[in-house]
Amino acid sequence: MGANEVTDVELRQNEPQDENVVWHPHAVTRADREAGNGHRGVVLWFTGLSGSGKSTVAGALEQALHAHGVSTYLLDGDNVRHGLCRDLGFSDDDRRENIRRVGEVAKLMVDAGLVVLTAFISPHRAERRMVRELLDDGQFVEVFVDTPLAICEARDPKGLYKKARAGELRNFTGIDSVYEAPEAPDVHLKGEQLVTKLVAQLLDVLRGQAIIKP
Ligand code: ADX
Repeated sequence: MGANEVTDVELRQNEPQDENVVWHPHAVTRADREAGNGHRGVVLWFTGLSGSGKSTVAGALEQALHAHGVSTYLLDGDNVRHGLCRDLGFSDDDRRENIRRVGEVAKLMVDAGLVVLTAFISPHRAERRMVRELLDDGQFVEVFVDTPLAICEARDPKGLYKKARAGELRNFTGIDSVYEAPEAPDVHLKGEQLVTKLVAQLLDVLRGQAIIKP
């Protein structure tokens, strides 16, 4: 029962607006689920410019982890904006709410014992810190996909940089909306490198931190 209490206190960080809403403890704990999965629950939070390679690298890493029997889930900006966050645009407030919701979902998924990979520009340091603070120590791994703007713009997979430069798209990150690069990311990826090399770098980190088995 002691372990259950710890998990509940950890999860129950934000008080609801209505005082009649009461936390309901569960019998099966994160520790139980992690033991069943054979690995810890953790968030690998990919951040970087549009076109930096976040989704591609996160997708390739997820494939490698899945092949090793790791229970994963990939939350991706473009996909989440089709459902959970379909009401949000790209103002600073909307981006903040986008990251807040995703942070809460990721936290639930960590409680489910999963290795969660998230691929959001998440341009503001404050929001990335907010998500880190939602989680326990060691559960949030910030992965900076560091690809120079010029390269992202040359790749322009969705033609959005072209639109932004032409003034047809406003508030585009890196053009007329800020991107605050991480100052001390847990993992710093050079986004011009081959995806296979970046995946190998990430797998080394996960093994080094005992998130997955050697
Ligand atoms: S975030 O800033 O709130 O973290 P998110 O990762 O969800 O952004 O969505 C970014 C994706 O939305 C980009 O990869 C791009 O395809 C698309 N997009 C559309 N408009 C914009 C914009 N103004 N700025 C950045 N990305 C945009």
